[in-house]
Amino acid sequence: MKPIQVGLLGIGTVGGGTFSVLQRNQDEIRRRAGRGIEISMVADLDTERARSVVGDKAKVVADAREVIGNPDIDVVVELIGGYGIAKALVLEAIAAGKHVVTANKALLAVHGTEIFKAAAEKGVMVSYEAAVAGGIPIIKALREGLTANRIQWVAGIINGTTNFILSEMRDKGLDFDVVLKEAQRLGYAEADPTFDIEGVDAAHKVTLMSSIAFGIPVQFDKAYVEGITKLAAADIKYAEQLGYRIKLLGITKRTAKGIELRVHPSLVPAKRLIANVEGAMNAVVVNGDAVGATLYYGKGAGSEPTASAVIADLVDIARLHEADPEHRVPPLAFQSSSLVAAGGDLPVLPMADVVTSYYLRIRVSDEAGVLAKITGLLANAGISIDAVLQREADEVGGEGSTQTDLIILTHDTREGDMDRALAEIQGLPTVLAPINRIRKEELSN
Ligand code: HSE
Repeated sequence: MKPIQVGLLGIGTVGGGTFSVLQRNQDEIRRRAGRGIEISMVADLDTERARSVVGDKAKVVADAREVIGNPDIDVVVELIGGYGIAKALVLEAIAAGKHVVTANKALLAVHGTEIFKAAAEKGVMVSYEAAVAGGIPIIKALREGLTANRIQWVAGIINGTTNFILSEMRDKGLDFDVVLKEAQRLGYAEADPTFDIEGVDAAHKVTLMSSIAFGIPVQFDKAYVEGITKLAAADIKYAEQLGYRIKLLGITKRTAKGIELRVHPSLVPAKRLIANVEGAMNAVVVNGDAVGATLYYGKGAGSEPTASAVIADLVDIARLHEADPEHRVPPLAFQSSSLVAAGGDLPVLPMADVVTSYYLRIRVSDEAGVLAKITGLLANAGISIDAVLQREADEVGGEGSTQTDLIILTHDTREGDMDRALAEIQGLPTVLAPINRIRKEELSN
């Protein structure tokens, strides 16, 4: 059979990796796909650099629309990123009847509904394994391997930059700002790291996993997003003393009231495997009613790990592109006619209705009755305490200090109730600084 013809839009880190892995493993890939997969066109504004990567093996152009307009191209791989030109080009490629492979989580998390609808109308595939957790085949696992299950929850370390920063903060006892600068110097963090450190990148990824897990449309606008910028070395140290690690988790969970969809730093018991995922590595735990907890671990970014996911999508397309569209795997795992409408039976819950447990760090005057007052306010709000740790004032504020940190772990409670209790506690004259609240996830069942 004639090799399937691929056009790459953008040949940076991932595009270069895709080109070289396809070259290196072409025989093996052909044996799996049943036909060859050839990158025959590449569009990149930097045509010189593109030529230095592909040599004479592919035609290089500066204008992506030349690729889309070429009738010989079967699949367009979008590796430009962002919501701007990438969105226009993906929609144009679909309109031209091309299958699309993309690593663009931001685009799909925000505009996925429009893009998947356009693809369904045109009978083409939009594949995005590389958009979530890089080389880990988590989309395949959720969409196909776990298809028998009613998924209960998904929790993942799905941003390598922030996991690297948190690992360094823990190893070296340093604060966030210091580690971020070091990570930028070493090239682990982007010059503008906002999407990573504010949790937006992780929220894009968990939004996609939530849709596939529960059969709901992509709803990034409903995700709760909190990054790691407010974490202090002290929180990491106290968490450790209580048997926990702090990780930036993307969490999506089925509850009786609806779907939780959230990204925030979380205390995770140190004994859980996912708590021990260090550096820039990614890991995702999926809990299904039949299978129980399953864990997926690997590189979430980088040239060849991400290329591994892009090429897996190309192989799927090579195998299925002549199949009746109804016999292909639906892009969001559920048949599009069976997705629960946004706000329908499975609404994404507002954060006030999320139920979780908490770590609280409260800077107080070290005087009689302070702890009793705070625990009284928590009790009035129906919040049950799991553990309390009080540091010696000297240890916290230096010799002769009259301030100390109270660390309180709570049992599960509604976030709205916790918000109200914290507002009251914050108003106490003996509470001397903004309270640090970090959610805690046991991830036990
Ligand atoms: N910037 C992401 C990370 C990789 O740090 O994991 C691409 O999604």
